[in-house]
Amino acid sequence: MISQDTAALIGAQINRELYSGYFYLGLSAQAEIANLKGAASWFMAKHSEEMAHAMKMYRYLLDQDAPLRLETIAAPPPESGSVLQMFEATLAHEREVTSAINDLVDHALSEKDHATGIFLHWFVTEQIEEEATVNDILGRLRLFGEKSEGLLMIDNELGQKAKQMAQSAAVDSAAGAG
Ligand SMILES: [Fe+2]
Ligand SMILES: [Fe+2]
Repeated sequence: MISQDTAALIGAQINRELYSGYFYLGLSAQAEIANLKGAASWFMAKHSEEMAHAMKMYRYLLDQDAPLRLETIAAPPPESGSVLQMFEATLAHEREVTSAINDLVDHALSEKDHATGIFLHWFVTEQIEEEATVNDILGRLRLFGEKSEGLLMIDNELGQKAKQMAQSAAVDSAAGAG
């Protein structure tokens, strides 16, 4: 059993994860409209990942017999501009999520709630990986992305990465970890 406060904070994080999914869905549409099929697939794969994050937390609350309140999900920003700006927005967004997860861990530790602390470890590690991946993409976009050939190359790479993400999500869900 976890405290009401912790349940409410995890509930707020479920909302943030669902918003993240919505945020990436919006970017996927923008990328597709800009004919960046690889980037569109990458953002769509991120959308699925974020929905899975929300569901992990949803499952945790129900398994802990904790109250669950689903709140309104905010609309994502309407336009991000260039693909570089899309990934800059992505990094800024993921940094905010990282800080929210850190606050959640702080709260769990302050309550000596080790179950929640252990549960949140997965998210702490996930955020490191997410920020690193986006930093890497941003670095390549800054180097090559403004020119059409470079942009085409990066878009192809993003399409490949999206396929890998879909495969590893399928393996996770087959193992019951998704
Ligand atoms: Fe997430
Ligand atoms: Fe994320």
